Amino acid sequence: MHSSQRDFHRVVAIDGPAASGKSSVARALARRLGFVYVNSGAIYRAITWHLLKNGIHTEEIDRISEALESAAITSRIGDGESHIVIDYVDPADHLRDDRVNQSVAHVSRFPLVREIVAQKLHEHARSEDLVVEGRDIGSVVFPDTPYKFYVDASPEVRLQRRAAQGERDEIALRDHADFSRLVSPLVIAEDAHVIDTSHLTVEKVVHEILTRLQETGLRIQTI
Ligand code: DC
Repeated sequence: MHSSQRDFHRVVAIDGPAASGKSSVARALARRLGFVYVNSGAIYRAITWHLLKNGIHTEEIDRISEALESAAITSRIGDGESHIVIDYVDPADHLRDDRVNQSVAHVSRFPLVREIVAQKLHEHARSEDLVVEGRDIGSVVFPDTPYKFYVDASPEVRLQRRAAQGERDEIALRDHADFSRLVSPLVIAEDAHVIDTSHLTVEKVVHEILTRLQETGLRIQTI
């Protein structure tokens, strides 16, 4: 069934490539607005972790499909953020494991997986105002929201940011997979406002987004 934005509460979409700064910005923005923060990448990561934990190879679409049909994928809201729970386990501590980093772009190319994540996000938006970060939020998941942003940073800055987080993440490989995927690749939605965060603080980016949201007609009561 096709859902339209009228079925949903307000959604601010923050898309961009890995390590572009979107998580820090989206989280801080959600707090300022009093909206729930949703990291859609975390849902892809939780699914990837669940498959790997169950010994399912990320090429085996039949087994992936079976595993996801029987998995209970739910979420809980705590501290203004949505947390994914899969088969009653909160995988938060494993979402950035090396093996998840290596496989997540792979798993997220399957239409079945994308459909499950989109459904989760739509469910959320039926009951809450959201700030959602991801790759296809403004282009595919909530194409009708008027509040779309695309945040980017230079490859050097993005690599530095990951290194500062102490993570090994093959950003170039994930970029390639994210941009070249057949279904819902990373694109800049036509009506998205683009921000290069390379030389901006999180506060500056949030300020720019809040200003833009006001211009776009969002009535803001920041907290
Ligand atoms: O935002 P992140 O780096 O944690 O996302 C992890 C992966 O999930 C990313 O490489 C591609 C996938 N992803 C996606 O395909 N679509 C989204 N909306 C969010 C993430």
